[in-house]
Amino acid sequence: MCGIFAYLNYRVPRTRKEIFETLVKGLLRLEYRGYDSAGIAVDGPRKTATDNNNNNTICLIKTKGKVKNLDEELCKKDSLDLDEELNTHFGIAHTRWATHGEPSPVNSHPHRSDKTNEFVVVHNGIITNYKELKAYLINKGYEFESETDTEVIPKLTKYVYDNRENDSITFSTVVERVIQQLEGAFALVFKSRHFPSEVVSTRRGSPLLIGVRCEQELMTDNIPIQYNSAHFIEGVQEKNSHNRPDSSSAINSVGDGRPVEYYFASDASAIIEHTNKVLYLEDNDVAVVTGGKLSIHRVNREAGEDPVRAIQTLQMELQQIMKGNFDAFMQKEIFEQPESVVNTMRGRICFDTSTVILGGLKDHLKEIKRCRRLIVIGCGTSFHAAVATRQVLEELTELSVMVELASDFLDRNTPVFRDDVCFFISQSGETADTLMALRYCKGQGALTVGITNTVGSSICRETDCGVHVNAGPEIGVASTKAYTSQFVALTMFGLMMSEDRLSLQQRRLEIIEGFRVLPELIKKVLALDMKIKAIADELYEQKSLLVMGRGFHYATCLEGALKIKEITYMHSEGILAGELKHGPLALIDKDMPVIMIIMRDACYSKCQNALQQVIARSGRPIILCCQDDPEINQMAYHTIELPHTVDCLQGILSVIPLQLLSFHLAVLRGFDVDFPRNLAKSVTVE
Ligand code: AGP
Repeated sequence: MCGIFAYLNYRVPRTRKEIFETLVKGLLRLEYRGYDSAGIAVDGPRKTATDNNNNNTICLIKTKGKVKNLDEELCKKDSLDLDEELNTHFGIAHTRWATHGEPSPVNSHPHRSDKTNEFVVVHNGIITNYKELKAYLINKGYEFESETDTEVIPKLTKYVYDNRENDSITFSTVVERVIQQLEGAFALVFKSRHFPSEVVSTRRGSPLLIGVRCEQELMTDNIPIQYNSAHFIEGVQEKNSHNRPDSSSAINSVGDGRPVEYYFASDASAIIEHTNKVLYLEDNDVAVVTGGKLSIHRVNREAGEDPVRAIQTLQMELQQIMKGNFDAFMQKEIFEQPESVVNTMRGRICFDTSTVILGGLKDHLKEIKRCRRLIVIGCGTSFHAAVATRQVLEELTELSVMVELASDFLDRNTPVFRDDVCFFISQSGETADTLMALRYCKGQGALTVGITNTVGSSICRETDCGVHVNAGPEIGVASTKAYTSQFVALTMFGLMMSEDRLSLQQRRLEIIEGFRVLPELIKKVLALDMKIKAIADELYEQKSLLVMGRGFHYATCLEGALKIKEITYMHSEGILAGELKHGPLALIDKDMPVIMIIMRDACYSKCQNALQQVIARSGRPIILCCQDDPEINQMAYHTIELPHTVDCLQGILSVIPLQLLSFHLAVLRGFDVDFPRNLAKSVTVE
């Protein structure tokens, strides 16, 4: 999905080249979100003769394709003196993921008000009333050049400015008047040649944060904290939590005229290498920088209503978001799973006392225990984590558990009641469908619980309580370690709910023991990488790949097939083995590659029946099975033998070979593993 990055250096001399490089680097950090074009706006050379407005200019550089293409475009701008030192300067940048209009330079951001670039803007989100606004502005004589919804914003900005009542109007007032006309979702950063080195940024429904770097202590107006995310803080995480405000840095303004740098971005990965001091804007906040001073106020504020936002210290390390020795982020993230599952459990499971405490949920536990049913909602991989844990949640909570795809859940206007507890599973915490479902359930009076990997995300902030899965930043568009951490987090919730159930004690102990050895078992599965690569060598030219299993492994089939289709572009289907004879059996012949998951659990003999049916149609199954299973070994074309664990955790082990297989298939087929075509990491549109 689109990415915003902007950089202001105030009384910190930087050459135009350095500024350009900072902006490009910011965009590179956002690449993982998925994009198809990119653009930058920086100050151009000052005109010698003044025109009607002023003699500032803004230069736009926009390209289709990769961020690095911007360098080539920059070289074509002869008039730009790259060595010129700019004491104070504001530049904006954007990666676009097309929604309205094809990927092209003209459709990419920054969008402009007119040919002289009086106002330029970068936007994440969608303007739903853009057609009406566009018609109005065309009628007023404004000319449009792109097919995007975004372009109405700079045009409307110029319209408001052109129709100002007097020349003392501020940049912020102009922007506020504009956003009052906008419907939909947005994070916006504005630049104008009428207000050089001034910034106005705002958000409604799309995330935006600001990093602050200055040499001395921040100057603050010392206004008390109003901050409300403590429900996610727990146990050991409390010390390191990303979202606990530091009481000394609750502010509504920063900067006192001394040198300072500000970084605006859609997520922290673009900022962290510059500063770990950030503040997150809330919906309808307007952040303004003038004369190096950052202040925040609400749209339509009454006097004295300025909000207070906490400056937070991010704990994220840059190396956490770098590729290291791996060829792709996805590969790195697959191999991080022995540690990421530990991070999900850290401070929550006590193996000595066999207890589980999720600090973010403990104050709500009584209410959850009294509920009528659990509804677990998500999209894509996050939905599969819900499918994977449904059975163990039913068993441990003794409640009815519904699992729902967020988009379908909303389409059906599903009945939700005050005594329901609704879980929202999302790696990014920004997925529009999941967020909409959350708002819907909140409106129905249900208790809402977030399971997210992104601190400060919308889902994390808008839910009543929640759990951070703490898997660390996930850059690859194909979700891997977030899935296994979501799996762990949901199962831990089941364990917490069943603590006082005598009849479940034995079961709890075996699951907790399973968690204790899980990291070692994951390492053993990862050690099968070369064997899996050899299977990929055989399969990569196939058109289709079926993945079949049942019970605890049905989710693995769905998730494995999703991984394969999303990064290899092969057709792949996850099939419930019980459904085989109701249709999919017709696909089986000697040429159709079939992966079957047959572990020693309650479904073992039923899966063997399915296997017989595949073999009887000359199928040549590749089987994921337990170590030392001679019966299965005999019937398989290939086996991938996995270490055995407790049935409800076995799905964490069975999904990893499919993550690895999809990775190798994609590489062999010559595709960009981390940035699959047509997909985005964070799907912030419905
Ligand atoms: C996973 O590989 C996908 N890229 C996708 O299905 C993803 O899981 C889905 O878009 C939901 O994202 P979220 O977890 O950030 O809400």
